[in-house]
Amino acid sequence: MQYFTIATILSSSLLAAAAPAPYLTQRACSIAYPESIGFPINYSISQEAGATNKHDNFVSFNSVPAGSYGCQLEVNFPAGYPITSSGASRVNVYTASGPNSGSLFGTVDFVSSPVARTKFVINSAQCAPTMSYRLSIASEELAGSVAFADTKEAGITMTYNC
Ligand SMILES: *[C@@H]1O[C@H](CO)[C@@H](O)[C@H](O)[C@H]1NC(C)=O
Repeated sequence: MQYFTIATILSSSLLAAAAPAPYLTQRACSIAYPESIGFPINYSISQEAGATNKHDNFVSFNSVPAGSYGCQLEVNFPAGYPITSSGASRVNVYTASGPNSGSLFGTVDFVSSPVARTKFVINSAQCAPTMSYRLSIASEELAGSVAFADTKEAGITMTYNC
C-alpha cells in the first residue's frame, strides 16, 4: 500500500497526513451519518475578527446502535472536493451531549487534496445513543470561515465497530 503525504502540498497547518483509505478496511466498519432533514448538509462556520458574530454549527449522530464500540468522529473528502474557506478556518469541535458536554473534543482543518482522498480522525469516544458536537472557528482573535456540502460520500461521519 502506498501512502501519500499531502502535507507538503497543502499548508503546514494541516493536522494529519492523508492516506488513501483501503476499501476493505472501510467496509469492515459501520458508518453513521449526521442527523439531517436532508443531504447535502450545508455546513458554514464563521466568525469575525475578535471572535465576534460567531456562526457555529452542530452535528449530531442518533443512529449508532446500542452496544456499538469504538466510535470515531472522522472527516473524509474525495480528491478535489470543493471546500470554501477564508482566514483562520481551523475549527474546534466541542462535545455537545453527554457527561463531557462543553469540553473540547478535537480540532480539524476541513481541507481536501487535489490528488488524493483525505481522511482525518478528529477523536474517538465511547458510543452513545446521541452524540452531538459543536463546530466553532478556533481562533480567539482572527476572522475566518469554512463551508462545504456534507454528503454521504464527503464530510463528517461516525465510524464504529471497526
Ligand atoms: C444545501 O444546499 C443545497 C443547494 O442549495 C440544497 O439543495 C439542500 O437542500 C441544502 N441542504 C439542506 C439540508 O437544507
